[in-house]
Amino acid sequence: MSRDDERSETENASPALSGPFRYGDRVQLTGPKGRLNTITLIDGGEFHSHRGMIRHSELVGLPDGSVLRNSNDEEYLALRPLLSDFVMSMPRGAAIVYPKDAAQILSLADIFPGARVVEAGVGSGALSLHLLRGIGSEGRLFSFERRDEFAEIASSNIEAFSGSVPDNWSVTVGDLQEVLPATCEAGSIDRVVLDMLAPWECVGVAAEALKPGGVIICYVATVTQLSRVAEELRRSGLYTHPQASETMVRGWHVEGLAVRPDHRMVAHTGFLITARRLAPGTQLPQLKRRASKGEFTDEDMAAWMPDLVEGGESEWTPESIGQWSKSDKVLRKKAREAQKLAAQRASGSEDSAAGAAAEDGAPTAE
Ligand SMILES: C[S@@+](CC[C@H](N)C(=O)[O-])C[C@H]1O[C@@H](n2cnc3c(N)ncnc32)[C@H](O)[C@@H]1O
Repeated sequence: MSRDDERSETENASPALSGPFRYGDRVQLTGPKGRLNTITLIDGGEFHSHRGMIRHSELVGLPDGSVLRNSNDEEYLALRPLLSDFVMSMPRGAAIVYPKDAAQILSLADIFPGARVVEAGVGSGALSLHLLRGIGSEGRLFSFERRDEFAEIASSNIEAFSGSVPDNWSVTVGDLQEVLPATCEAGSIDRVVLDMLAPWECVGVAAEALKPGGVIICYVATVTQLSRVAEELRRSGLYTHPQASETMVRGWHVEGLAVRPDHRMVAHTGFLITARRLAPGTQLPQLKRRASKGEFTDEDMAAWMPDLVEGGESEWTPESIGQWSKSDKVLRKKAREAQKLAAQRASGSEDSAAGAAAEDGAPTAE
């Protein structure tokens, strides 16, 4: 095989997830001041900073986790970025699902290799990347997104991470309620994952798509959304009793005798709620419960969530649940950033891993 054949083979291949570095891989370099830079290795490529230069060829063949020196004899630590590193630094159009919640989603929804999964909305594609990893090459991920700009950002992010758009992934632009029935055959889906403002509106179409026993999981930012989706899951009669949780991860500082929780943490991201699809025509047996004083009336529910009762109204918007939304101009900028990242991945030019996430502030579900 000629050198050119070898090069085009490695450059076209997906980045390796382990083993010695090779052309086409992404490498995260940590410099003397702790600054991170992510580069994609290409034949003849060079990484330049004001501190000096490293040839990409010097990294090729080194084991992951190596230390090498730049042209100024300064040390750089070279590591393959983890999926969570990539997700936290990639361009964002919408708030992303953070790795701690993505991990719980994979577990609570029982995402398995070979699963056929529906996901909406796709947002920036953070959760899609985790789901793709969970289902493996035998699985199939159908993502849905009602806004074109977000679908574009997610596609570029997924392409940048995977090296190319995976064969087993598609994104359909449109409202899930309208486009799901035309995209996925009824009863053909193992798992439905919803991260959107009003998931209760999609409980019916999700049930139609799910196989009996399939799992629905919704990620919502506020207690009011959590309650609304729980009541709709119950009211539909199509699912088992829903189960809700939230995940708090507290980092620890562990150094010598200074062993204590970190001073800061991400205190709130969102809630997860799951239920299983009942077999068509099945009625859930009534749970035998002790009579409780906590029973509530329709009037109580109407006061809590006016849109749950007939004729009632309430307005669900990102702003009404306390969330920012980005202007079209900012979204176009984010789409350009994501396309640039995907192009850099293809050409091997440098990009910085730091900073992309910072301006988005705290994570929230829509
Ligand atoms: C918070 S974002 C999703 C973030 C994504 N899970 C991630 O990790 O990057 C919510 C997205 O849902 C989309 N959306 C809301 N309702 C939808 C619907 N009914 N059908 C399809 N997409 C919807 C919004 O346009 C938005 O992009």
